[in-house]
Amino acid sequence: MGHDFIIELKDIVKVYNTGVSALDHVSFNVRPGEFIFVIGESGAGKSTLIKLLTCEEKANAGKIFLDGFDLSRLPRKFVPFLRRKIGMIFQDFRLIEGKTVYENVAFAMEIIGSKPAAIKRRVPLALTQVGLRNKAEVYPNQLSGGEAQRLGIARAIVNNPSLILADEPTGNLDPDNGEAIMALLECINREGTTVIACTHDKALVDRMGKRVLEFLDGKLVRDESHSTYAAQLGCSDRVFKEGSGPCRDFVRQWEYNTDLEDELKRRRLKDFKVPQVDDMQKLIIDSYERRAWRRQNRKKR
Ligand SMILES: Nc1ncnc2c1ncn2[C@@H]1O[C@H](COP(=O)(O)OP(=O)(O)O)[C@@H](O)[C@H]1O
Ligand SMILES: [Mg+2]
Repeated sequence: MGHDFIIELKDIVKVYNTGVSALDHVSFNVRPGEFIFVIGESGAGKSTLIKLLTCEEKANAGKIFLDGFDLSRLPRKFVPFLRRKIGMIFQDFRLIEGKTVYENVAFAMEIIGSKPAAIKRRVPLALTQVGLRNKAEVYPNQLSGGEAQRLGIARAIVNNPSLILADEPTGNLDPDNGEAIMALLECINREGTTVIACTHDKALVDRMGKRVLEFLDGKLVRDESHSTYAAQLGCSDRVFKEGSGPCRDFVRQWEYNTDLEDELKRRRLKDFKVPQVDDMQKLIIDSYERRAWRRQNRKKR
């Protein structure tokens, strides 16, 4: 039976026994097949959110439904069954050093009691999907960072999960490898798997234009589809300081007072009026409208 939402969070409160409030009345829903970025500074509560979803931590109040199961009422012995629906990806890869690439992926199937025939069939498929088929017999310490994370992804997808939770998956990678990892997650998402990725990576979030959940001190302060790392609308300090999306470069230019007119010419944006300070808020709103317009046109096509 299908559910409308793969995840429902209702008014979740998480206070650690140190007294730290990690999540403060958080509510949101996720539909099957969505790709979501969870962003926010260190300590904002991103990893705590992941740990609640994997039943590693329990909420103090509120309800979480995962695929229709109420996690607060799920008997402990059912947790392993629920976790099979989830593929986890970590910043530090968490590979088993004493096992080969093949064995690392096979192990994820063995621990849930898969049959040897199924393991033999599915492990090569997962390795092919992440481009590591020819490294099957190699050990993790012989892999580059990008390859190690691709192995992490193969392990996460081999049991065919309906949900992938990635906690800072590109945090230890250079930009090119980070981009490759996100592209891979996007491919997996396109095939129907829901993906939730916690990240600090502004460039990737901006480029991919996915739904963004922004946390600040445990509070969900933004839930916006087709979004960027910093908010589009409004005139908050944050928008002016960091800029975002299409207007980011203009805001930067404006801030550092470089020759904006030349820059615009170089980009063949001749018709673009150089914004004055008073125009800045309008510029930000315009860019929002442009995006909305583009989105609408995309839908029509
Ligand atoms: N096991 C824990 N015990 C006590 N406090 C914790 C624990 N884990 C996280 N915290 C605190 O909860 C807050 C949120 O942490 P976390 O969810 O790890 O944030 P993020 O992943 O966004 O950096 C932080 O203040 C952190 O210090
Ligand atoms: Mg974290």
